Amino acid sequence: MSNKPELPWIPPSRTAPDGPAAWVKGFRVGNVEVKRPFILAPMSGVTDTAFRRTVQIAGRETTGLLVTEFICIEGLTNANLKARTRLAFDAQLERPLAVQIFGYEIARMAEAARICEAAGADIVDINCGCPAPKIVRKGGGAELMRQPDHLARMVESTVAAVDIPVTVKIRTGWDDACINALEVSRQCERAGAQMIAIHGRTRKQLYGGQPDWDLIAEVADHVDVPVVGSGDIADAAGALYRLRESGCAGVMIGRAAVMNPWIFGQVDDLVQGRVARVADDAERLRVLAGFRDMMRAYIPERAIPGRLKQLLARLTKGFDHGGLLRHRVLRAKTTEEMFEWIESFFAATDEGRIDQWAVKEKDLPPPSPRVPRGVRRRRAA
Ligand SMILES: Cc1cc2nc3c(=O)[nH]c(=O)nc-3n(C[C@H](O)[C@H](O)[C@H](O)COP(=O)(O)O)c2cc1C
Repeated sequence: MSNKPELPWIPPSRTAPDGPAAWVKGFRVGNVEVKRPFILAPMSGVTDTAFRRTVQIAGRETTGLLVTEFICIEGLTNANLKARTRLAFDAQLERPLAVQIFGYEIARMAEAARICEAAGADIVDINCGCPAPKIVRKGGGAELMRQPDHLARMVESTVAAVDIPVTVKIRTGWDDACINALEVSRQCERAGAQMIAIHGRTRKQLYGGQPDWDLIAEVADHVDVPVVGSGDIADAAGALYRLRESGCAGVMIGRAAVMNPWIFGQVDDLVQGRVARVADDAERLRVLAGFRDMMRAYIPERAIPGRLKQLLARLTKGFDHGGLLRHRVLRAKTTEEMFEWIESFFAATDEGRIDQWAVKEKDLPPPSPRVPRGVRRRRAA
């Protein structure tokens, strides 16, 4: 399958493109319509419902498909609270939604898929790419790349268990000696998988080195179901470039969406022939506040500061005194205290008095020393 267009043109993100990119098209995954070929990649610890909604709102609802963080099949089938919380989503805003699950046992995978379907998922996706030792050791994630027959049986059983489409997300292989994305994709397709997403790295590469987009393109050319490429798309223009060059039906954007939750709207700007809009400070603050409020609806207050810090670190990278803001926020004990710093920072930036804002640091007590992980603080005698 190839949707490679004739146009030799890639628009730079910040200048006006020559006109709409009419070659950009949506695609279908079974009965699910993916209207735009730009997909939010699953990221554990990041793409929960609050983040997915943040991306949808910031991107003016232009994300073609949203994927959850991976969810453990044992957790789902044992009604574990953490696993079930990860199933939470906004039925209006987060559409279409693929729920990604991971594990090794075939019957459990099928049962977990039924739970996802009953919860309202549009698609269920099997994770075959997670490199974490604790997942791989139990046969899940990237280990499935080394057991393609088992994976094919798993896909077959899962397809038989649900009415929604079943998809897989794989890597290029296990390591340099075992690059088998094409064989695995063909087997998964024969077993009934209706879309194949490929992160262009082996398990051994983790997240380093170059993603192999040539191999992704080769798979896209040799299987009939939609293939979605993933790996190092850094900005809106990069998303269009990879889509066009790989001939994939779609591309996934992961880490770049954490740095820039507006990216899907910017891609849409380019597709429509407009200059990509860049978020101003007021918009950054709105996104952070919205993220906080959405988290409050479904996770305990004590868990919020950690998640906020994660997003804030990305959204203020490169700002004058952004490091100082992160340092101050790191010491804040409550969400309110964090927000006082964040609001004062953006107000000062906006009013051109960020240098005065930074001087206040002198009035603050020094930060408490960091205790390395695994080293317990000794109690004072
Ligand atoms: C923090 C983090 C968590 C991830 N978690 C998942 C996951 O749960 N499931 C999955 O299939 N891929 C996961 N990935 C891989 C991404 O979906 C994506 O394929 C990879 O990051 C390359 O794309 P990018 O360069 O656009 O981030 C994760 C990546 C990161 C950085």
